[in-house]
Amino acid sequence: MTPTTHSLSIRPARAVRGTLRVPGDKSISHRYVLLGAIAHGATTITNLAPGQDVAATVQAVRTLGVEVDRHGAGEIRVTGRGLAAFHPPAVPIDAANSGTTMRLLAGVLAGGPVRVTLTGDASLQRRPMQRVIEPLTAMGGRLTAAAGRPPIDIEGMPLHAIDWRMAAPSAQVKSAVLLAALAATGTTRVHEPAATRDHTERAFPAFGLALDAEDGWLAVRGGQRPIAPPRPLRAAGDPSSAAVWACAAAALPGSSVTIEGVSLNPRRLAWAGVLERMGARIEMGADAGDAGEPTGWIRVSHEAHRAATISPAEVPGLIDELPALAARAALGAGLEVSGASELRVKESDRITALVTGLRGLGVSAEERADGFAIDGTTPPSGGQADAAHDHRLVMTFALVALGARGRSVVTGADAVAVSYPDFAQDLERLTIR
Ligand code: S3P
Repeated sequence: MTPTTHSLSIRPARAVRGTLRVPGDKSISHRYVLLGAIAHGATTITNLAPGQDVAATVQAVRTLGVEVDRHGAGEIRVTGRGLAAFHPPAVPIDAANSGTTMRLLAGVLAGGPVRVTLTGDASLQRRPMQRVIEPLTAMGGRLTAAAGRPPIDIEGMPLHAIDWRMAAPSAQVKSAVLLAALAATGTTRVHEPAATRDHTERAFPAFGLALDAEDGWLAVRGGQRPIAPPRPLRAAGDPSSAAVWACAAAALPGSSVTIEGVSLNPRRLAWAGVLERMGARIEMGADAGDAGEPTGWIRVSHEAHRAATISPAEVPGLIDELPALAARAALGAGLEVSGASELRVKESDRITALVTGLRGLGVSAEERADGFAIDGTTPPSGGQADAAHDHRLVMTFALVALGARGRSVVTGADAVAVSYPDFAQDLERLTIR
């Protein structure tokens, strides 16, 4: 495989084998940086996600006057003096490709002391922001965005508590409201229709913040003062990145991959159950964990190929791993997914771009309004697929290419730097030819 700036050329592999650590988790890293920025004192974060998304969050808080020092690879120190100490930025804040940066920061800034504009790259400018603007406006926030898309103008205002029933499951929306709640008067309550990743809730106690959970509602009292944790916080390995290697090992006979130091947060591991349904053998072992987040190792090997169906109720727990599961399915299992129209508003339209790319690699795949169907009975020929500026699609197509009959090219492969800058090197290291 030859990495170049814009494309990856990938030869078929017999198997993937080995042990690795994946980059620090993106979702956890964003939250530690943002909470560190509004906390009082110095928060040290280790194993910070190395990609461009978290770099955008770090740059954003710097632009707001928060001091961030780098201490070698993956370690930073964020010195906060509370939300009230944020400086008005001279320029718009660029969230780049990162929806999490924009939506969580909107929650932080709605009750802050400054006026700001949040913008992003062409992909982020197409993504829906009304879902955070609505609850934050109900709290008294002043946020405007033409047609509900970025840029968002935010004028920090005094906020008041609300009871908010979310219309659709979203960890980003939930987190935006929980972060805004800290600056509001009264106790804000949020209800999510289905369980989504809970990293904000798990991070709160590390910053001395109380949060109650009862009957599906989360409650946060306003006016709490976040305090920097006395010990460094370590971001666990990203289970969504781990899922890519797990899918490769599950798909290629003779494979076995062990991922160490990875998050074992149950709300991030639904993909493991789907891989088992498709015929994988999966073992896991826990270690001590960190700051309320369970961590450990996961070993995945191929046992069989079985077709699977993913139901709408499963989608929120698999939202970032559906592309990788599609790749696994294309290599001998088959898959039907429905109730996943949310994929259309991710970093790309992940239904159209996924199906188009899979077909380019010789996979028989069908696009549906709210999902897709993949026939895994014939090995893909290989060919060319465009990642549509979407990091998860780079990894997905690379994975299909490993199990294809001929050589493949993935164009737009530089997008992988959003979450996994060393992906191509790890691919080379694990691949047996
Ligand atoms: C994220 C939540 C999910 C996920 C995204 C990261 C987070 O988005 O797809 O990659 O860190 O909260 P939604 O909240 O839009 O489902």
